[in-house]
Amino acid sequence: MLGLGVNSEGWFMAPVITVEHLQKSYGHMVAVEDLSFEVEEGEIFGILGPNGAGKTTTVECVQGLRRADNGRIRVLGLDPTTEVAELRQRIGAQLQDSALPGRLKVAESLELFAAFARNRVDSDQLLTRWKLQEQRDQAFDTLSGGQRQRLFLALAFVNSPELVFLDELTQGLDPQARRATWDLIREIRRDGTTVVLVTHFMDEAEQLCDRVAVVDDGRVIAIDTPQGLIDGLGLSSVVRFTTSEPDLGWLEKLDVVESLTRNGETIEVRGTGPVLALVASELVAHGIAPLDLRIDRPTVEDAFLVLTGRRMRG
Ligand SMILES: Nc1ncnc2c1ncn2[C@@H]1O[C@H](COP(=O)(O)OP(=O)(O)O)[C@@H](O)[C@H]1O
Ligand SMILES: [Mg+2]
Repeated sequence: MLGLGVNSEGWFMAPVITVEHLQKSYGHMVAVEDLSFEVEEGEIFGILGPNGAGKTTTVECVQGLRRADNGRIRVLGLDPTTEVAELRQRIGAQLQDSALPGRLKVAESLELFAAFARNRVDSDQLLTRWKLQEQRDQAFDTLSGGQRQRLFLALAFVNSPELVFLDELTQGLDPQARRATWDLIREIRRDGTTVVLVTHFMDEAEQLCDRVAVVDDGRVIAIDTPQGLIDGLGLSSVVRFTTSEPDLGWLEKLDVVESLTRNGETIEVRGTGPVLALVASELVAHGIAPLDLRIDRPTVEDAFLVLTGRRMRG
């Protein structure tokens, strides 16, 4: 919904970003067909979709790096096509991997970027914050993948931005570095900075984002909290356990249970709401306490499948 919100003090405030009916083509190739969304102050807003969906094109238009063919964009009250210099001072953008010369040292790159900033942050503070103190005199091309990502984050913050754009931030990172990066993003939000996170990783959107715009073929197909996406589609969970008990007809009578299937001693109970708790208590009441009782909840991946009729990857 487009419009004004009310903050905790009762003031009407404009969204940090408003995009209405954005369109962008490269020649005959339509990258963004018709895309609208709003980002509120202080949230982590995800733009989630498969490769080629138009995510990067969208955030490039929002940052004033590309000119939209059609539509209206406002960022921090500014028009990114005509007020890009002012916008640059107030937003932080993550660089692409190829953007830094290999021999540039970590501390030097921070100095270089800070030189253009009106409200610059002290380099030592950034090095500490992003755990790069020990790498300060190290050249860019000697850094590990995780260290590079932390440097890109540090560089996005040299101008104390109100809003940062992070595009495929954890691409190519190992699971441990990914999780560490996620923690850092949560820290950014705690400090009050609004984050726009572009990703094709469902789990990343699910873990980090307050709200997600699911994008496919240059259009927004849903906007909600990750849990709201799943709940709104009424997707069911599956409770699994094993038992040698032959008759479980009483489980199927529970309101929350949709179906029960049996494969040898392996039981799958499909249902919604508090299905795990109710199945568990019913089992215990019948003297059955399976050691392997567990639930698989629907994910954002399942929501994407239902919304588009296909898997995001593979
Ligand atoms: N500079 C460009 N020139 C031509 N086509 C492009 C360019 N950048 C992106 N595209 C195409 O536009 C579509 C959307 O790309 P992009 O915005 O990068 O999507 P995403 O970030 O979701 O992967 C893709 O089909 C891509 O190949
Ligand atoms: Mg992209």
